[in-house]
Amino acid sequence: MFTFETRITKMLGIKYPILMGGLQWLAKAEMVSAVSNAGGMGFITAVSFTSGDELRAEIKKTRDMTDKPFGVNISMLPVIMPSDMTEVYVDVVCEEGIPVVETAGRNPEPYLPKLKSAGVKVIHKVPAVRFAQKAERVGVDAVTIVGFECGGHPGMDEVPTLIVLPKTAESLSIPVVAAGGFCDGKGLISALCLGADAILMGTRFMASKECPMHENFKRWLVQAQETDTIVVERSIRNPARIIKNESALTVANMEKEGATLEELLPVISGKVGREAYLSGDVNRGCIACGQVVGRIYEIKSIAEIISDIMMEAGQILEKLNKIAIK
Ligand SMILES: Cc1cc2nc3c(=O)[nH]c(=O)nc-3n(C[C@H](O)[C@H](O)[C@H](O)COP(=O)(O)O)c2cc1C
Repeated sequence: MFTFETRITKMLGIKYPILMGGLQWLAKAEMVSAVSNAGGMGFITAVSFTSGDELRAEIKKTRDMTDKPFGVNISMLPVIMPSDMTEVYVDVVCEEGIPVVETAGRNPEPYLPKLKSAGVKVIHKVPAVRFAQKAERVGVDAVTIVGFECGGHPGMDEVPTLIVLPKTAESLSIPVVAAGGFCDGKGLISALCLGADAILMGTRFMASKECPMHENFKRWLVQAQETDTIVVERSIRNPARIIKNESALTVANMEKEGATLEELLPVISGKVGREAYLSGDVNRGCIACGQVVGRIYEIKSIAEIISDIMMEAGQILEKLNKIAIK
């Protein structure tokens, strides 16, 4: 199958410019190795593990399942949170010889000297052009820019991928990964046209055979429309795009009534989401999900998702060449 050689495929030593971002509780050895085996790159999500040893064990398990490169996502909480484990995760990544990390949540600058001296590439994920510029200034190797339609944290500015991606690519000289709303070959070609060196997907990979969530969620993802997500947590300046279920509507109402962070925490806690993934109760938990869910019609294997994207991208290129008049 044909591919695109970009600054990201060369930097990471992968065949296709397709990455799977951090997915808390989900992006573990099965999904990560499947993405890497299919020619893209997956990232183990460190925050799913409560100790460095647990993360180390997952890295070993992933290595048993693929000989291709994979990364680790380090989602950083605000420094004031007592549960912040960033330092521990960074040490494990360096000691284990992981080639690349996806950082997100706050400025990764304090960790760059350690990561760089261990030869770890850093791709920092941000929701706004100014944060991308700052990341370049502090010395990351690449940025992932997410548009407002993304699952997870779209930032406070509410700017969609179609605007924030080309503006970021135009203003940076390091490679740019595009995220938010991608699921197919049309999206990949568009992202490359808009200046990206790769796409990164979360929601499309969540709707995969390998994803370790209850079948009820997979059924929900396939029937969901693009209007079935909601952005909550704006009141605590941590907007999150999630499935519009009963928990989400409760959070939205609590915020309208002026709830404090302490009052919101029991409802927005990731642990509730983890229990829901296992029990299959789609009405419980704040479950990250992008608007692209409205364009997902089938649960596929990760290998199929990636090969279908590349096949469609090739067909689109041919079609464009046919209609282009010189
Ligand atoms: C279920 C789910 C869990 C996620 N968990 C994390 C996470 O723990 N850390 C992180 O940096 N991003 C997380 N994200 C965001 C994704 O890595 C990615 O940035 C986003 O899904 C891209 O937008 P898309 O959903 O439109 O593809 C999550 C996304 C989803 C859908």
